[in-house]
Amino acid sequence: MSKAKEDFIWGVSTSNYQIEGAAKEDGRGPGIWDTFAQQGKIANNDTADVACDHYHRYAEDVALMQRLGVDAYRFSISWPRVLPEGRGRVNEAGLAFYDRLLDKLLAANIEPWLCLYHWDLPQALEDLGGWTSRDSATWFGEFAALVGRRYGDRIKRIATFNEPAVFSLLGYAYGSHAPGKVSHDDLLKVIHNVNRAHGRAVDAIRSTVDRASIGSIHNVQPCRPVSDSAADRIATERFDEYWNGAFPQPQMLGTYPPQLGELIAPLIKPGDLAEICRPTDWFGLNHYGPLYIKESTDMLKSGFGPIPAHIPRTSMDWPIEPDGLRETLMLLDRTYSLPIYVMENGTATIDHVGDNGEVLDQDRIDYLRAYIGAMDDAIAAGADVRGYFVWSLMDNFEWNSGFKERFGLVHVDYATLQRRPKASAAWYAEFIRARRHKQAAGHGAETVG
Ligand code: FCB
Repeated sequence: MSKAKEDFIWGVSTSNYQIEGAAKEDGRGPGIWDTFAQQGKIANNDTADVACDHYHRYAEDVALMQRLGVDAYRFSISWPRVLPEGRGRVNEAGLAFYDRLLDKLLAANIEPWLCLYHWDLPQALEDLGGWTSRDSATWFGEFAALVGRRYGDRIKRIATFNEPAVFSLLGYAYGSHAPGKVSHDDLLKVIHNVNRAHGRAVDAIRSTVDRASIGSIHNVQPCRPVSDSAADRIATERFDEYWNGAFPQPQMLGTYPPQLGELIAPLIKPGDLAEICRPTDWFGLNHYGPLYIKESTDMLKSGFGPIPAHIPRTSMDWPIEPDGLRETLMLLDRTYSLPIYVMENGTATIDHVGDNGEVLDQDRIDYLRAYIGAMDDAIAAGADVRGYFVWSLMDNFEWNSGFKERFGLVHVDYATLQRRPKASAAWYAEFIRARRHKQAAGHGAETVG
C-alpha cells in the first residue's frame, strides 16, 4: 500500500465568516464583508451577523463532526475577531473562542486544519488600503505570528490563504465580492501583495510553530474556450493565467505566468520573488468544476462564459464534471510535485425538510460519489492525493448569494438555528467507515463505496 493511501484523511470544511455569527460580540471588530453587507450587496439583503451561530454552538457542531466520523476539520480564524483593528491591540476574548473550539476538536480526536485568511479582512486595514498596500504583507505576517504563538502547540496543519484568485478577482476586478472594487490596477497590486503576504506568513508560522505542515489553498479549474475561435482561445490562455497561475506559480515555482508577469513587473522590487516562494509542505485544492471562457472586450470578464447546454449543472448553475477533478489533480501533481489535499468539494442543492424532519439530498450524494470516484482515478494514475474535505459541514452564508445556496451535509434552519443531518451526512459517515475498513483490510481505495 502506498503512503498516500495509508495517510488518507477524510474531512469537512467551513470558514469563520460563513458560520460564526456573533459579529459584534466579545470585541470583534468589523470586517470588509460586514461593510459589504451593510451596503446591500448580498442577495435578499442577508447579513452574516448571526449566520449559523457557530460561535455559541461550536460544541454541538463538533458533536456533528464526531457523528460523521471525520478525521479532520478545516476552518478559518477571524482576523477582526482576534485583532479588531487588524494589528496592534489583541482581543483576548476572540482568541479564547478558538481555544475552546480547539479543545473540543482535540477531545473528539478530530485534527484541526487552520486557514489564516478566508476573506475576512479587518475593515480598519481596508481603510489603510487593504491588499493594495505593500504594508499588507507585514500586517499579515504579524497576524500569522500571533496565531502561531497562541495555537501552535495544538495545530500543525496551517494554510495561509483560501482561494486568493477568487477574492482578488471578484473583490477588485468584478466588484461582486468585498470590498467591491473594480480596478485592474488595484487587482495587479493585490495579486502581488497577497503573494508577498503568503511568503511572510509561511516564515512566521515556521518560526512560531514546531513541526508545522504548511500549505496554501487554491481554486484550480480547467479553463475551456467556448468555441474554437482564435479569440476565445487567446482569452482562455490569458484568463487561465489570472485564475489558475497568478498565485500558485509564484508561491511554489517563483515565477509569474508570462502575460500577467509583464503587467506585474513594475511592482516587483528586488527580493520580492524570493520572499514569495518559500518552501511549503502541501497543495490545497478547492475544486467544483471547469470554467468556460468566451472572449470579451473586458479581458477579465471573459472568465464566465456560457456553459455548453449538454453539461449538467448544480442548483447554482455550476457545471457537474467530475472528470475535471481528475484532470486538475493530474496537472497539479505534475506541475508542483507536492502532496495534494482536496480542501473543498461539494455542491449546492435545493433541500426541503420533510414532515418527519428528513432532508433527502440525493443530488449531493450523487455528486460526491462521482467526484470522489474521479479523485480515485487520479490516485490510481499516480497523483499524490492525501486527503479530501467536503464543503461544507453545514449550510452557511454563501457570500454574495447569502443563505439561499445550501452546501451543507447538515441542514440549518436559519429561523431556529436547528441543525439536521441530511441524507448525505449519513452517506458520508458510512462511506468513510467503509473506506477505513477496506484500507485496514489492505484492499486500497479502488472503488467508490
Ligand atoms: C469556495 C469558497 C467557499 C465556499 C465555496 C462554495 O469558492 O472558498 O467559502 O463559498 O466556494
